[in-house]
Amino acid sequence: MSDFPGTTGLILEEPILFDLPGDPDAGLDPADVPEDLAEVPLRQAPLGLPNVAEYRVVRHYTRISQYNYGIESGLFPLGSCTMKHNPRVNELLAALDGFAWLHPEAPEQWSQGALQVAVELNEALQAITGMQDFTLLPAAGAHGEFTGLCLISAYYEARGELDRRRKILIPETAHGTNPASAALAGFEVVNLPPQRGAVLQPDEILPYLDDSVACLMLTNPNTLGVFESHIEAIAERLHELDAFLYCDGANLNAIMGKARPGDFGVDVIHLNLHKTMSTPHGGGGPGCGPVGVSERLVDFLPGPRPVRQGDGFSWATPAQAIEPVKQFYGHFGMFVRALAYIRRLGGEGLRRASERAVLNANYLRARLADTFELPFDDPSLHEVVFSDKRQKMHGVSALDIAKGLIDRGFHPPTIYFPLVVSGALMIEPTESEDQATLDQFVAAMIDIAEQAASGGADALHDAPTRSFRGRLDEATAARKPILRWTPADE
Ligand SMILES: Cc1ncc(COP(=O)(O)O)c(C=O)c1O
Repeated sequence: MSDFPGTTGLILEEPILFDLPGDPDAGLDPADVPEDLAEVPLRQAPLGLPNVAEYRVVRHYTRISQYNYGIESGLFPLGSCTMKHNPRVNELLAALDGFAWLHPEAPEQWSQGALQVAVELNEALQAITGMQDFTLLPAAGAHGEFTGLCLISAYYEARGELDRRRKILIPETAHGTNPASAALAGFEVVNLPPQRGAVLQPDEILPYLDDSVACLMLTNPNTLGVFESHIEAIAERLHELDAFLYCDGANLNAIMGKARPGDFGVDVIHLNLHKTMSTPHGGGGPGCGPVGVSERLVDFLPGPRPVRQGDGFSWATPAQAIEPVKQFYGHFGMFVRALAYIRRLGGEGLRRASERAVLNANYLRARLADTFELPFDDPSLHEVVFSDKRQKMHGVSALDIAKGLIDRGFHPPTIYFPLVVSGALMIEPTESEDQATLDQFVAAMIDIAEQAASGGADALHDAPTRSFRGRLDEATAARKPILRWTPADE
């Protein structure tokens, strides 16, 4: 019997004697490690690792990968997340040896290709948004928000005004990360509840405007999927006070090639390359949330920033730069993927991607508007927000509708967000989907509404029943996640 549990059959009882000539030490010095290991503190009991055949391991991982639903499985209409297809060619390019294995400390003369990618991405983002310059350092959208607000802090600090510029105005149609980032950057958040519909009117901000305001953060298109059409006038009001207009540009997917934030007075914007430019989301990161600025803030951008230098490229840090917000240069693999996407589509392709994303959202809106309540009737861009108001009358909530969709083979939309809509169902199909898929989704939604209206509320409360897990206690799953496998007898 072998001394090694689990290896029975692999360790030979008697060594086979090979009658072959050769050098037993194969060119090495003779072994000099003492063979008596009595003094060495060796583990006395087996480690207790599971002893599993390879095919079982393969099946285990394949099976748990199939419990997941991702953009590779089907429509993923998670509003505000822009879950579009991530083209495989982007992955191939990011995995090229020269990109994937380049050491971040490699000297500039050996990194010219990578620097060129960073410079060209920066320039492409400038062309798409009309902003003066970008930092590519931030790793996500919220990180970009924090970085942008640090730039505004640095500006006021340089002018000796930071003590009084304490307030950041944030309409409730903004993304939820905006107030969190403002608080983290040390500002006081002033909430602006919607007063007259989905869009912020310039006169709504007048009562709040004085020289304690540092900036207003406007998500455009906002979280209702509606374009903030008064943004230019709002920018003017702010600029009269030397305050800034921050645009949350994470929904750029709706307006690429159609409108440029730099043209309507935006001073700071973050983009989510992991949404608009098709780089993967990956569990909250690592993504890329570049921050673009107008001329007033260029000197404060954190370094190192990729710049052209003569015929080549270099890293530079402006004299008044804020502290770096990320190690080295940011998530370089994301730069390659995003630039590949931009280059492959070109200006015309990006414009068409936005047009298709908007068309798809409006198709869903048109097909579902008779069945689900539309709380705001402003024109939709890339996403449409319904509410559960009509289904609530039958005892069915947005949560039940979401779970019912899982039983019908779809990932649910975002629910209960934006907060300005009670029982919100926020649907963003993106440009990746075709009409047949959208029709199947519509059929599933209408089926749920019919089930609710015909006394099927109880069954919907039990949904999902066809998935690997039934309805979870989501609060406990989020607050007390079980992340470690424990053997049954421990
Ligand atoms: C409008 C908007 N702003 C900000 C964010 C935050 O981005 P991240 O999740 O990358 O931090 C998101 C996320 O989807 C968003 O939709």
